[in-house]
Amino acid sequence: MASLSMSQIRIGNCASGFGLNWAGKVQGGPSRVGFRVFASETQATEPDLSVTVNGLHMPNPFVIGSGPPGTNYTVMKRAFDEGWGAVIAKTVSLDAAKVINVTPRYARLRAGANGSAKGEIIGWENIELISDRPLETMLKEFKQLKEEYPDRILIASIMEEYNKAAWEELIDRVEQTGVDAIEINFSCPHGMPERKMGAAVGQDCALLEEVCGWINAKSTVPVWAKMTPNITDISQPARVALSSGCEGVSAINTIMSVMGINLNTLRPEPCVEGYSTPGGYSAKAVHPIALGKVMNIAKMMRSEFDSENYSLSAIGGVETGGDAAEFILLGANSVQVCTGVMMHGYGLVKKLCLELQDFMKKHNFTSIEDFRGASLEYFTTHTELVRRQQEAIQRRKAIKKGLQSDKDWTGDGFVKESESMEI
Ligand SMILES: Cc1cc2nc3c(=O)[nH]c(=O)nc-3n(C[C@H](O)[C@H](O)[C@H](O)COP(=O)(O)O)c2cc1C
Repeated sequence: MASLSMSQIRIGNCASGFGLNWAGKVQGGPSRVGFRVFASETQATEPDLSVTVNGLHMPNPFVIGSGPPGTNYTVMKRAFDEGWGAVIAKTVSLDAAKVINVTPRYARLRAGANGSAKGEIIGWENIELISDRPLETMLKEFKQLKEEYPDRILIASIMEEYNKAAWEELIDRVEQTGVDAIEINFSCPHGMPERKMGAAVGQDCALLEEVCGWINAKSTVPVWAKMTPNITDISQPARVALSSGCEGVSAINTIMSVMGINLNTLRPEPCVEGYSTPGGYSAKAVHPIALGKVMNIAKMMRSEFDSENYSLSAIGGVETGGDAAEFILLGANSVQVCTGVMMHGYGLVKKLCLELQDFMKKHNFTSIEDFRGASLEYFTTHTELVRRQQEAIQRRKAIKKGLQSDKDWTGDGFVKESESMEI
């Protein structure tokens, strides 16, 4: 069945702003949220993967995470052609000349004996900076992509120094290309903090509040704040970003790491002219850590922010539809993939969609909203686990037909009698 086709209506700061989600529900919301519905073929029997996040309609929740897979026109076009729900471009700043990368800038952790080169890659460290391509070039490519793919979601990722005018200029120039939303990189763990950028802002709530204030006063499209996991309680900066006007948060960026020391040369990896610097860790190995951080943010958002208007984009070690389902079960509206695309290619999205649909069919879920956040309520404190377990033991004891303790043994059929004591 072909659904209706409408082009995006950008409603700017109009006071009567509203968004229309896929189910046609009218919702109040932050005024710069537009809406988008585009033609798609959906089979009545297949679970519907489409999502509407901050008014932006995506055919599926899978988003290219900022990094090498969104570094130029050619690869972003490829992502749209392969069917990714949205693309977040590699982070840009005003002056790319200040961004100087080194090689090698990646190091990998492999599963298997002694990190054998044949082992599967489970961890990936990078010391790559943000985009070193001229801003003008990147902006031209954003514009061209939006002209060629007006119905697809393109999100710019931006980062600047602690300078209000610089942030305002960057937002203005990026928005002129027609991008649908902006993700703010408050989370790059290496290189940029030396210039009070990236994680230096995401780790300092007072600084974050001030910079988010500048950004949200200027921006006319939805803004997602990308959070660093390199902080004790990630829900604190996430709360600050949302209460300072951001429509969404993304988590996580890479985890500060040292991949290893070469036991022959005694030098750390990745080794540049004999030296290294801590980098950012990603891929499958970070998935459990990302789940933990996303759970913390989701719990905070559920109790303090309304889910119609504020979104959560989860990132970290996604390679299967099951990985994505876990994030959605915690409350994520969309799921980003970066290293997974670098390892498996852009066609990965097809496998992700099929596997997510298989999961949905197994549970009779027809839409993403059917199960979004469904597992969140099952997280509690350790004290509460103890209380629940003691209660459960008492309940089971009360109905147990078997022996209550060793003193009740009769000696007839030891196996049977001891099994009857198990709870
Ligand atoms: C090589 C590389 C470069 C990255 N560059 C950026 C970047 O420019 N901006 C950004 O916000 N995140 C960047 N990231 C972080 C990813 O977007 C993502 O948050 C992180 O890698 C965890 O997700 P993953 O396990 O799917 O890669 C980069 C990651 C890698 C591996």
